[in-house]
Amino acid sequence: MSPIPASSPIITDDAAHLVATVLIEAIDAGVTRVGLATGDTFTPVYQEIARRQPDWERVEFVLLDEYVGLAPDDKRLFRNTILRDVFEPLRLREIQLKDPDATEVVDLQLLGIGRNGHIAFNEPGSSFASITRVVPLSEETRAANAAAFDSDLKMVPTHATTRGIGTILEAKRIVLLATGEAKAYALAQALEVDATEAMPASALQRHADALVIADPAAASLLTR
Ligand code: GLP
Repeated sequence: MSPIPASSPIITDDAAHLVATVLIEAIDAGVTRVGLATGDTFTPVYQEIARRQPDWERVEFVLLDEYVGLAPDDKRLFRNTILRDVFEPLRLREIQLKDPDATEVVDLQLLGIGRNGHIAFNEPGSSFASITRVVPLSEETRAANAAAFDSDLKMVPTHATTRGIGTILEAKRIVLLATGEAKAYALAQALEVDATEAMPASALQRHADALVIADPAAASLLTR
């Protein structure tokens, strides 16, 4: 039997399905307010949730971040992505979805990680005490997100609203998902180097209930 390569979509989907299971079980156990992340990492998570059809009629969702400057019907708005990928398949009401500037503390926050270690749109150097605010996007992050804009960097928004690192740390529980080797360096820095504002995801070391789920490719540079 040949080993499955580390970047196998089968194993990546396993990590995503595990996040879907953690979220469904948390809501079954009483969680009522969930912070939702977007990005390619979460596409298989939301596909799995749509397939499993949980009843989330009484759950409130809060967007983690959002582009500034796009038209309200632009499909690249994270709000519209979540409406399409989560709300339509589960037949939820739009009133259940809050923008990132909502002041509510969430019970469970889903997070991805940027290649430079950003969480939400908190770029390296963001204060661990930062609150929800409008931030400029780094060139690296704009380039990483350009595919959704026909790879035309000029079309990628220059600013976004993001929940702050301090805001994210207020969540009672955090679940970070990292998949693919492009995330391996950031994940290793976030978990194995002392927490520093130069590496936003390392703030999770200061949280009492943070779970990190990674596929083998994203975990490949972890040594401890
Ligand atoms: C984006 C988002 C983050 C996301 C990260 C990774 O810019 N603001 O919330 O976690 O970068 O995105 P992806 O999952 O597409 O790699």
